[in-house]
Amino acid sequence: MEEIVVGIDVGTTKICTLVGRFDGTDVLHILGVGIEPTTGIKKGIIVDLEAASHAIVRSVERAEQSSGIEIASAIVSIAGAHVSSINSRGAVGISGEIVDEYDVINVLEAARSVAIPHNREVIHIVKRGFSIDGQDGINEPIGMHGYKLEVETHIITAGAATVQNLRECVGAAGVEVQQFVLNPLASADAVLTKNERLMGAAVCDIGGGTTDMAIYVDGNVWHTMVLAVGGNHVTSDIAHGLRLPVSQAEEIKLQQGYAIRAEVGAEDYFSVRPFGEDRDVNINKQELAHIIEARVEEIFELALQEIKRSGYDGLLPAGLVLTGGVSALPAIRGLASDVLNMSVRIAEPENISGMVDQLHSPAYSTAVGLLRWALSREDNFVKAKNGRNSRKKEKKGVKLDSAKNLFKRLLP
Ligand SMILES: Nc1ncnc2c1ncn2[C@@H]1O[C@H](COP(=O)(O)OP(=O)(O)OP(=O)(O)O)[C@@H](O)[C@H]1O
Ligand SMILES: [Mg+2]
Repeated sequence: MEEIVVGIDVGTTKICTLVGRFDGTDVLHILGVGIEPTTGIKKGIIVDLEAASHAIVRSVERAEQSSGIEIASAIVSIAGAHVSSINSRGAVGISGEIVDEYDVINVLEAARSVAIPHNREVIHIVKRGFSIDGQDGINEPIGMHGYKLEVETHIITAGAATVQNLRECVGAAGVEVQQFVLNPLASADAVLTKNERLMGAAVCDIGGGTTDMAIYVDGNVWHTMVLAVGGNHVTSDIAHGLRLPVSQAEEIKLQQGYAIRAEVGAEDYFSVRPFGEDRDVNINKQELAHIIEARVEEIFELALQEIKRSGYDGLLPAGLVLTGGVSALPAIRGLASDVLNMSVRIAEPENISGMVDQLHSPAYSTAVGLLRWALSREDNFVKAKNGRNSRKKEKKGVKLDSAKNLFKRLLP
């Protein structure tokens, strides 16, 4: 028996299944990788169950083949426009005048029960802070004296039907979802340093269909958001603006794209053949950069609005940590720091060894972060057997009682 962790990042453009092992240091050893183009998912929402299942099954099978490990359960990423978050306060009387773990469960249950409609599923309950008898700022209330315990929470919920669809697609691969983890929280586990969390920082993962953000203050998650806009929108702007098929627009974006128009030489051209032309035409690179800049700037403006909404505009000294596939766009760092008026660094997964050739890219922060998430929370360890694939898989999921379930969703 080895302690193996498995993560499946179900992205809008690619599904990435990783099998990893923790060797007791900070280094994560990657044993298996399965990367497949996504089908049947748009902006984080499953639009074709069968197509989505196929892509997930293929990704899982590849990871099983490359690792030689049969995957029975995994931590799975979740994002999309159906995800939302609310802040909710709960209060209970302290039963024995000293706070115990049941008081904590009860107060969190109170915060949770106030606000959640039936068609939503709770993904995470983030504890922002406790107060006892009106005294704020308590991180760990257990063992303290008092009469009234209150908690301030940030509750992240997702559309129950969408969650169920995703669970089914993963189930089609014979894999039980151990836990869903919100995209930006997984990415943060891969790229945010402890000091950045403590100082105050935002992580922003711009993928193909979504832009996911989480704000950390005093070491804890303070605010999260998912925007249904990403690199695919940049591509479709280029396709419309230059009258090109989407596949060609994507290629040109990757090869010639630049985020700041003013920094592109006026004499730089590339040639393409737009719809309705019978020969190649030369396009000025500034024109391309202009299209890209407009959309990416808009994404950062939306991100800024969210930072303002969180109440932490100007109060994140460690700045923005930018990741996700789009962060590979040349000059994006400068554009982000102009719009957001804060320091920006581009980050990709670090401290990984083994089968990591493709993983050294900001596009894989969420996938690697899912493993780190599992590793840093002991009860999430997957017990996987060594051995080649077998068609029939046993489900080893344990049904947790509701209190334990609640704890599993809590962030430390
Ligand atoms: N060098 C680059 N310049 C511009 N865009 C890039 C570059 N490299 C990748 N991208 C874009 O990044 C996006 C894919 O990013 P990523 O792999 O993080 O998405 P995803 O995880 O599949 O999607 P999501 O997280 O939105 O569900 C695509 O739109 C792709 O065009
Ligand atoms: Mg992603």
